[in-house]
Amino acid sequence: MPRISRRDLLCSGLVLSASSLVAQSAWGRTASLLAGYPGPASAEGLAAVEPREQLLFDFGWKFQFGHGTDPARDLGFGTGQGDFAKTGDFSFAKAKFDDSKWRTLSLPHDWAVELPFVHDDEQNSHGFKPLGRRYPETSVGWYRREFEIPLSDRGRRISVEFDGAFRSVLVFVNGCFIGRNDNGYAPFRFDLTDFLSYGAKNYIVLRVDASFGDGWFYEGAGLYRHAWLTKSDALHLGEWDSTVRTSEIRANSAMLNLDTVVANEGTQAEDAKVSWQILDAAGKTVARAEAPARSVAVDGAIHFSAVAKLANPALWSVDAPILYSAIVTVEAGGKKRDAERVSFGVRTAVFDANKGFFLNGKPLKIQGTCNHQDHAGVGAAVPDALQWFRLGVLKEMGGNAVRTSHNMPTPEWVEACDRMGMMMMCETRQMSSSPEGLAQLEAMVKRYRNSPSIILWSIGNEEWVLQDAEAEQGAKIAATMVRRCHELDPTRVVSAAVNGTNEKGVSEAFDIIGFNYNLKYPDNFHKEHPKLPIYGSETASALSTRGVYSTDPLRNTESAYDVNHTNWSELAEEWWKFYGTRDWMAGGFAWTGFDYRGEPTPYGWPSISSQFGIVDMCGFPKDTFFYYKAWWGSEPVLHLFPHWNFEGREGDEIPVWVFSNLDEVELLVNGRSLGRQKVPHLGHVEWKVRYEPGAIEARGTKDGKVVLTEKHETTGPAAAIRLTVDRNEINADGEDVAIMKVEALDKQGRPVPTASNLIGFKVSGAGALIGVGNGDPNCQESDKEPKRSLFNGLAQVIVQSTRNAGEIRIEAAKEGSDGPALISAKLTIVTRKVKSLPAVG
Ligand code: GAL
Repeated sequence: MPRISRRDLLCSGLVLSASSLVAQSAWGRTASLLAGYPGPASAEGLAAVEPREQLLFDFGWKFQFGHGTDPARDLGFGTGQGDFAKTGDFSFAKAKFDDSKWRTLSLPHDWAVELPFVHDDEQNSHGFKPLGRRYPETSVGWYRREFEIPLSDRGRRISVEFDGAFRSVLVFVNGCFIGRNDNGYAPFRFDLTDFLSYGAKNYIVLRVDASFGDGWFYEGAGLYRHAWLTKSDALHLGEWDSTVRTSEIRANSAMLNLDTVVANEGTQAEDAKVSWQILDAAGKTVARAEAPARSVAVDGAIHFSAVAKLANPALWSVDAPILYSAIVTVEAGGKKRDAERVSFGVRTAVFDANKGFFLNGKPLKIQGTCNHQDHAGVGAAVPDALQWFRLGVLKEMGGNAVRTSHNMPTPEWVEACDRMGMMMMCETRQMSSSPEGLAQLEAMVKRYRNSPSIILWSIGNEEWVLQDAEAEQGAKIAATMVRRCHELDPTRVVSAAVNGTNEKGVSEAFDIIGFNYNLKYPDNFHKEHPKLPIYGSETASALSTRGVYSTDPLRNTESAYDVNHTNWSELAEEWWKFYGTRDWMAGGFAWTGFDYRGEPTPYGWPSISSQFGIVDMCGFPKDTFFYYKAWWGSEPVLHLFPHWNFEGREGDEIPVWVFSNLDEVELLVNGRSLGRQKVPHLGHVEWKVRYEPGAIEARGTKDGKVVLTEKHETTGPAAAIRLTVDRNEINADGEDVAIMKVEALDKQGRPVPTASNLIGFKVSGAGALIGVGNGDPNCQESDKEPKRSLFNGLAQVIVQSTRNAGEIRIEAAKEGSDGPALISAKLTIVTRKVKSLPAVG
């Protein structure tokens, strides 16, 4: 083992040591996947094309808490009866209102993650954050922003759009009430044209009320997704109406069925012509189409369509996620009036009841995970680059699909899947054919139906009553929803995640059948319904705490060996042996890829997050990550665990496991062989070893040759800090983030797997710290303060660029005066000037 010098540590050392392979290998690949990160909010794929303008509306907001029950602390809102009596009378949305004492912040913003924890068992779903009707002081937030609209915008249609907010939103502009939105996940948009002052300052105010929730998991609070201001001609394309549907896909050609809608909000009828320009991934024009001019009446909207032939289509797949784009343009009066870019892929996705799932005609098992939108340090306000990072971790594990449990995803998550080659089961929140339920569903299907990553729509999850007691009602509701999906998107199958037999109720309407858990049902169901494809919509819910090798109800920990699950679920090895060995099954989605706040099963306080993740809330792999990597991935894998730091347990029997896809593994303890074992297909090997300090080593052989070895040595105490970053250079756009791993090393430079030192961070220069975490489900330290204890040797720091190019300097040093000294670490990240998205000034 080479000694590591102080200089190496200061340079952030990407030095690998045998015992650090667990975390390092996952990090390394993620970093290379991130190298392809295109920039925030789809810089390249952005929908707007001239003459349309789409301005990012994320920067420079003012924020203040309101109050859920006391109008005096809620800008006087709700004092009397007449709040909505007059349209134009809201003084807080006018120039004179003084917001100078409000906090300035940027979107995406989740205020829930900033709140302290409360010991209130009713709040365990929210991760013990004080949100809800019993916490009026922290459940309502006001956002305010001044913005200018130039005189030259007169005559254009101008809308504001929020990609989603948590949860009930009232929008006011220039003193007028504009509208409301009442769910936590669907995007909403308001046309502001009539309310704006041209050549003058304007004021927008949002009251965001998180008193009600939509789910049973951490959901965040506030404007936690991007916001946009869009300016278009009065003759314009309809929202999410442009679609590219591929058909007749052959080796040398594919048909593109092109559709859109043109709306006329001007004052005279227009002869509109629509054209499509198809670009390949390199930006070269590869096809064109045109729909002849037709008259669009004032206040009318007309459907236009055309077909184009694409020669030698490059197919989208998980290994080669090749994207095309269509630029859709409307012309009238000899001028381009509106245009947008639609990104799409050419691929087939077919579920077969007897043979499983096929992508582009080739069988492919769905190796999926369910995930909530929640990450250490930032909560639900996940920066775009972090979406990539998270998918990178799952891809590194061999995952090829995600399920957006249990709600419509953030656009940048879908885009990251399209670009990185991750399939998606896209799920709506509310299973209902009510106007609200259908509106959420329609927004989802229309918004994302061009995305090649999406292989199926899910209209909900575990609707106990509609599945069973009210089966007739359930069947009708589901049938209406499925019909609506088919109308809006005839290319994809529709399903839902059902925890039950799937014999009646909602399931009657589905194209394909998803089982949550219950491994006892699918075989029989397949026999009884041989024409219905089956997949595991939710599986596993196995429990583990990263780096902890005992289950201890007094400490709220779950052993990281694959030995714990709830009474309704399965181990990793159990569910994958089931789904992975039945050819007729399409595969499934494990609960969950990442840990998430809330649902602190099986414990409660002080656990603030789940323990279901295959990786923790930071994305640090737990040991089961390598079970999946071994059986889902294509590379040789050898993962030995636990670590070998069990001071005080000398002579105790410690289980030593290896996840591997090699033929045989030999285990050595301080050089003595404990024998070889054959690795069972989809299984693991294990030994019982009496603990003595020193080293354990696994040697994995393939065809009789040693191909991989892994060694864990008993380390000394922590002596130095190491910082490692996913990317050394990020975009200076005020959105991009660098994700740092913090470790403690012993004197010999070996990561200390049990270290729990408290580390403080100083960030200076062209960036700021936006969150910290350590993946400990029982840690109640702040996500926002610049310090964090290591949890089993690891912590994470997330730093965001400003819009000025330069350097971000990060220094990590031991916090406080207790305990032995640690050599501190420094790291510099370059932020480079990029073509930033146009933003509201
Ligand atoms: C499922 C549910 C998930 C999560 C999981 C925990 O029944 O769909 O949202 O609660 O249980 O095991």
